[in-house]
Amino acid sequence: MVKKIGILASGGDAPGMNCATIGAIRAGYKLGKEMYVIRHGFKGLVEGEIEKVDREFAKYSASMGGTVLKSARLSSFKEPEVQKKAIDNLHKFGIDALIVIGGDGSYMGAKKLSEQGINCIGLPGTIDNDISSTDYTIGFDTALNKVVAAIDDITDTISSHNRCGVIEVMGNRCGDLTLFAGIATYADFIITGDHPIDQDKLIADLKELKKTNPDHVTILLSEKILDTNALVKRIADETGFDTRLDILGYVQRGGRPSAMERFNATRQGAFAVKLLDQGIGGVCVGIIDNQLHYQDIYEALKTPRNKHEDLYEEFDLIK
Ligand code: F6P
Repeated sequence: MVKKIGILASGGDAPGMNCATIGAIRAGYKLGKEMYVIRHGFKGLVEGEIEKVDREFAKYSASMGGTVLKSARLSSFKEPEVQKKAIDNLHKFGIDALIVIGGDGSYMGAKKLSEQGINCIGLPGTIDNDISSTDYTIGFDTALNKVVAAIDDITDTISSHNRCGVIEVMGNRCGDLTLFAGIATYADFIITGDHPIDQDKLIADLKELKKTNPDHVTILLSEKILDTNALVKRIADETGFDTRLDILGYVQRGGRPSAMERFNATRQGAFAVKLLDQGIGGVCVGIIDNQLHYQDIYEALKTPRNKHEDLYEEFDLIK
């Protein structure tokens, strides 16, 4: 029977991580568990940054972005001797189960600890939406709203000058933030790693568009898939459009979580505790078709993510 449960956040922070944390802590106390937080992810676990918390822990943080747990990336956690230090620290505090909020990199660490007797549950915390075992990751909805708001603001300016705006969106090679924001803002071109474009064709299409004197042109581009500055220079040099680049950066990742983010993160945090209470570990939690569910971490990591071919087709985005 699990008595003491730890929680950590790992990888890039995401809005809603705090609600997942609070949801888990409250569910834990309801089931009579002792709850612990681990600061700075797996790094803090290895270095012993572990603290017992009460039911009221970080209640104020429900409305805040980022993570009160603090996060870190620790690539050496794949090494067995580093994992052993983490397990020794968990034993020192008598912690017998762990909730890991993070992306798929963090899930592997959770699985390894589960195999060594510490049941772990992964919660999908990342703005990128690149985890196959849930429809939407914790952080995606809020980040999407931030991206859409930024595009709306940029559009006021590019429209006033009849310019072409290229807007680079985060996602770490997953195109979902770019795709969903592009559909929501009627972007003229959406360029993602899931559907790369032929740059010559893009230039030719823009030249044709220029002949129609459009009010403005919006091009959304996923980060890390091509040389953004080179593409913007080419557009400016070859199409005749007065062209500007905006790289949105951390304004997409920080900030107050949306109401649905808070609700769904809280549900998933509480669900993780219930699973641990039933002796289940080595799995990750998600929400599919609005139903909470869980899946073995290895299976989740093997399953290719949804690349939304249907949306590219439906909105004629394959140019
Ligand atoms: O995974 C979230 C994310 O913000 C990605 O979208 C981005 O590629 C990456 O993290 C940037 O990471 P950092 O700035 O923390 O190094």
